Amino acid sequence: MKEKIIVSNNTEEISTNFFNLIKKTSDEITDRKISFALSGGSSPKIIFNNLVNNFKNKLDWNNFQYFWGDERCVPPSHEESNYKMAFDNFLNPLNVYQENIFRIYGEDNPMQEAIRYQEILKKNILLKNEIPVFDINLMGLGEDGHTASIFPNQLEIFNSDNICEEAVHPVSHQKRITITGKVINHSSKIIMLVTGKKKSEKVKEIILRLEKSKSYPASLINPNEGTLIWLLDKESASLL
Ligand code: 6PG
Repeated sequence: MKEKIIVSNNTEEISTNFFNLIKKTSDEITDRKISFALSGGSSPKIIFNNLVNNFKNKLDWNNFQYFWGDERCVPPSHEESNYKMAFDNFLNPLNVYQENIFRIYGEDNPMQEAIRYQEILKKNILLKNEIPVFDINLMGLGEDGHTASIFPNQLEIFNSDNICEEAVHPVSHQKRITITGKVINHSSKIIMLVTGKKKSEKVKEIILRLEKSKSYPASLINPNEGTLIWLLDKESASLL
């Protein structure tokens, strides 16, 4: 895998760097739609708003097909829905057509939905070794070292033979649906977006491959033939 670290000074800069990364993919892939996996959390929300404000007319946002790396098991109108967050702050203001949006049904039975979404990914995304290859996979890092909805006590979900799995948040016990390591590590470009001082210790441990980081799902991200790009603000990068 190739690994790159980009440290930005503020939200504006981090959003511009994020935009440049997706613009590059959109310049490279012109003969088909680009598969783009979104994630939940507070950092993407800030970036989404910024992209809408500053880059709405700089790209054809309907050249992408939007998927999710994880979803909380709530209806799409619920405040905790990752789909709702991305739809309200990103896809709707950018006038993305419904046909380009492939949400995870958080309102359905999680086990069955994991199977259904796995088929959706396989049907709509280019496959390599029968595994969907996200052109762009936006991921986050939790304070406990989780990524997508794979938590530190659930490393077996990262290593699953399936593409999607049911997961449970270890504290709130909220059910989740998540992609697994199999599809994560087949991505072409993973953008690991991390902001804030509170994440700096985990960022250091993972990037410097310290022993402690081995129990963090995020440390298992290793896109075989792809690139892992750490998009950090200066607070999260402060211990590097
Ligand atoms: C979720 C996310 C999760 C998130 C990280 C970082 O649904 O909770 O997809 O994996 O990306 O927890 O979130 P923050 O940006 O809020 O720190």
